[in-house]
Amino acid sequence: MLLSSGEAPFFEPELQPMLRRGAASGRLRFATSIEQAADFGQVHFVCVGTPQMGDSLAADTSGVEAVIRALGLYARTPCLVVGKSTVPVGTASRLAAELAAISPAGEEAGLAWNPEFLREGLAVQDTLRPDRLVFGVSSRGALEVLKDVYAPLIDAGTPYISTDLATAELAKVSANAFLATKISFINGIADVCDAVGADVVTLAQALGYDSRIGDRGLAAGLGFGGGCLPKDLRALLARAQELGVGESLAFLQHIDAINGGRRERAVRAAEELVGGPLAGRDVAVLGAAFKPHTDDVRESPALAVAAAMRQQGARVRVHDPEAIANARAAFPDLDYAADVWDACTDADVVLHLTEWPEYREIDPAVLCTVVRQPRLLDARNALAHDKWEAAGWTVRGLGVHGPMSPGVSVFE
Ligand code: UDX
Repeated sequence: MLLSSGEAPFFEPELQPMLRRGAASGRLRFATSIEQAADFGQVHFVCVGTPQMGDSLAADTSGVEAVIRALGLYARTPCLVVGKSTVPVGTASRLAAELAAISPAGEEAGLAWNPEFLREGLAVQDTLRPDRLVFGVSSRGALEVLKDVYAPLIDAGTPYISTDLATAELAKVSANAFLATKISFINGIADVCDAVGADVVTLAQALGYDSRIGDRGLAAGLGFGGGCLPKDLRALLARAQELGVGESLAFLQHIDAINGGRRERAVRAAEELVGGPLAGRDVAVLGAAFKPHTDDVRESPALAVAAAMRQQGARVRVHDPEAIANARAAFPDLDYAADVWDACTDADVVLHLTEWPEYREIDPAVLCTVVRQPRLLDARNALAHDKWEAAGWTVRGLGVHGPMSPGVSVFE
C-alpha cells in the first residue's frame, strides 16, 4: 500500500518525510479495516471529506456519518471519537446520540468535535503550530482526553478553546466564510480601483496596518478556490436557511458571486490586452492549482479561466509545477506544457493565474523572445510589473495601477 511505504498520495510540502519517518518507526500504521481500527484505538480522529452536494449548496456528510456509525458498531471498549471534518452545525450532537445508541460501549463511546484550520501547502506547519485549538465537547472526560492528546502543543503555548459541539462546528465554517468575505471585499474594492486608476495592492497595505483588519487575506486578484472556502461558504448559507436565519447570511451569496465574477473579469482583461476576442489566439496559462504549493485543482480559478478561454475558441496551453496530472484529469481538453517556455512559445498573451514563487523568477527579457506578443495579465497581482514593462511587456493586473513595490511611495 502506498501510504504504508511512506508515499503521500498528493503533493504537500514537508509531509512526505514525516510520513516516511512515521512508517519506518512502526508508530504509524495504515489499515483498511474499521474493526481493526476500533479495536486498536481509544481515541479515533475522523478526517473524512464533506464535499458540496451535487444538487444543492449543502455539504454531503454521508462519508463522515458512515465512518462514525461503523466505528460505533465495533466500539466495544470506552473510546472518544473526534470529528475533524467540517460539518453543518447540529451534525455532531445527532451523531453523538447515534454513536451511544449503537455502540456496544454505550455512553462510554463519546463524541467530540475538533475542527482543523489548516491551509493546504502549509498543512504540516498549521498542524504542528496552529493558531488555536477548538475542542467541542459534552463532558469533562472528553476535554481531558483532548488536552492530553494535544499536551505538547498546549504546553508550547497554543491557546485552546473548550466549548460545546455546535460552537465548535460553527467556528470552522464561520472562519472560512469570514476569510472568503475578506477576499471578496478586497476584490470588490479592486474593481473600484480599476474604475478610478487607484491601486489595490497599496490600498490593501494601508488597510492591513490597522490591526483590527490585519494584512493577511487581502490579496486581490482572481479570487478564492479550493476544496474549502467555496463549499463551506455555501454550506453555511444552506444550513442557515434550513434553520430559518438565511436572511442574516444572505450576503454570503453575494460574496460567492463576486468571487465567480473574478474569473469573467480576468477573461475580459485578457481580451482587452489582445484588443479583441480570444478565438484563434494562443494563450499561455501559468498556474493550474487553486493556489501555490499544492497540486489541488478543486474549484481552481486558474483552470476555470483557462477552460472559459478554450470555450471561446482560444488555443490554451497550461503550465503548473505540481498540478498538471490533476488538471489534465479534470480538464482533458486543455493543452498542457512541461515548462514555462513551452507554454509561452508563440503566445499572444501570457496569463499569470496561480502565484507559484518560480514564476517570480522568470526573466521577462528572455521570455519576451519566445512569445508572439509580449502581453502579460497578472491576475494575482504578484509579479514585478515594472520589471516586465522595462523588458518590453505590456502588463495588466486586476485593480493595480501603481509601482508594484510594496512600501514604496509613487514619489520615491
Ligand atoms: C482554507 C483556510 O485558510 C483554512 O483555515 C481551512 O482550514 C481550509 O480552507 P485553503 O483552502 O488551503 O485553506 O486555502 P487559503 O490559503 O485560505 O486560500 C484559499 C483561496 O483563496 C485560494 O484560491 C487563494 O488563492 C485565495 N486567496 C487567499 C486570495 O485570493 N487572496 C488572499 O489574500 C488569500
